[in-house]
Amino acid sequence: MPDKSAELVLSDVVRPGQSLLRPVQPIQDLEILDADLDEPKFVAVPSDGASSVYVETYGCQMNVSDSEIVASVLRESGYGLTRDADSADVVLLNTCAIRDNAEQKVRNRLRAFRARKRKRNPDLKIGILGCMAERLREKLLEEEQLVDLVVGPDAYRDLPRLLQSAEVTGQSAVNVQLSREETYADIAPVRYDSNGISAFVSIMRGCDNMCSFCVVPFTRGRERSRPVVSILRECAELIDAGYKEVTVLGQNVNSYRDGANGTSVSFAELLYRISALSPELRIRYSTSHPKDCSEELLHVHRERENVCNFIHLPVQHGNTETLERMRRTYTREEYLDLVSRARKIVPGVTLSTDIIAGFCDETEEEHQDTLSLMREVRYDHAFMFMYSERPGTYAQRKYADNVPLDTKKRRLSEIIELQNSISLESNQADVGESFRVLVEGSSKRSEDQLAGRTDGNKMVVFDKPGRRPPAPGTFVDVKINGCTSATLLGSVIN
Ligand code: SAH
Ligand code: SF4
Ligand code: F3S
Repeated sequence: MPDKSAELVLSDVVRPGQSLLRPVQPIQDLEILDADLDEPKFVAVPSDGASSVYVETYGCQMNVSDSEIVASVLRESGYGLTRDADSADVVLLNTCAIRDNAEQKVRNRLRAFRARKRKRNPDLKIGILGCMAERLREKLLEEEQLVDLVVGPDAYRDLPRLLQSAEVTGQSAVNVQLSREETYADIAPVRYDSNGISAFVSIMRGCDNMCSFCVVPFTRGRERSRPVVSILRECAELIDAGYKEVTVLGQNVNSYRDGANGTSVSFAELLYRISALSPELRIRYSTSHPKDCSEELLHVHRERENVCNFIHLPVQHGNTETLERMRRTYTREEYLDLVSRARKIVPGVTLSTDIIAGFCDETEEEHQDTLSLMREVRYDHAFMFMYSERPGTYAQRKYADNVPLDTKKRRLSEIIELQNSISLESNQADVGESFRVLVEGSSKRSEDQLAGRTDGNKMVVFDKPGRRPPAPGTFVDVKINGCTSATLLGSVIN
């Protein structure tokens, strides 16, 4: 059996304030996370005598949060956790199925681990977790020989049993059962990769929206919310541990509702309650659906100082007919109306979005509507994707993926180019202003500079003041004196 001492080893390694993780990314930062694959997102040390497990995480923030649950479940069962893939006894890939290229990246990585198993370490156990495991199920075992474990996102409590079974029998072990109840509410995540400042708190799982292009309802199952009490407890523990920021997570986070014990707590009320725990804790959330962005929620942004004035409001497209084909449940006009209400109720709110280029039957005029909506809203930031057909979705069954690849690419680059210029203008408008920034650590480029985010989720880089530089986790006021389209540059004024 693996050794329980792994627990001690892990807590020794991950000290609050130690920057082991890159700055927290918004949940849609799939491309960035995808692009960072060379840098594994898993950290810890092997423990004497225990089987050591290496986990690599792909996809959205929810997957990062799930890997923290996986780490906790394995640690409880005595497994050691390692950041060194080469020395691991077990390699787990927590996968994403959102677009074909996300799956291809995992397949490439899997190929490398399979080669290692064949040539150097026949005892190595390889497991696929998460959304690809759910999408492909037993097919993964047929297609990708040498996979020992296939475990879906609701079956992580079963991991120790499955691992042991694979180890003892030498046979593959599979559990891809989806649940209507599982929220892992009672499992304390092991924040192995944390910077000790920002943490993810998962509050709901699954999605019932069935947007026609999206695989998530199939890989993550039905929507369910975690009890409010367990969320507040976790946030309070984070505050006690010195964390300064939580990002509350869910696939459709603002449809959260805890209806247990005759109560009914909405997402807005939950945020309010979290914000009341401590004025020192900043609160963000990801990722929301426009249909669930209530007036009540906007008022919580307005009234609660520590609920960030930043909303990620994925529009996906700017044309009403396309939105209908996408099954997004709002029209262009309704979305624009929501944006103007948000701006009225929450002055200065920053907005980001997700956009898909080249969806089925998209005409040139419809594409132009996306560009015109972007000009009208002027998002501060956007995540932009080319449509990728996903097997089993409504769009795959009912529509033809008929926009030629060249056209998709051209439309996407027009969208990206426009957004870059809007982001630059948005940042230029901040030059001369001052912002409260939560210091996360040194900037990527230089140890002489610090980096952190504004309330509006903009990244700020500034010179480290010579005397008594602010420690990570402190709030400083920074005056902005320059920018790029991605970053504000400034200097500390207090
Ligand atoms: N629950 C989130 C979405 C998570 S997926 C939400 O509704 O906002 C993140 C983004 O990936 C989506 O918003 C969408 O823009 C993009 N996406 C999802 N399916 C896609 C597909 N088949 N092709 C291209 N982009 C897709
Ligand atoms: Fe996918 Fe739509 Fe659910 Fe988001 S809301 S996860 S895009 S089905
Ligand atoms: Fe990918 Fe699954 Fe998240 S498909 S985006 S890891 S919900």
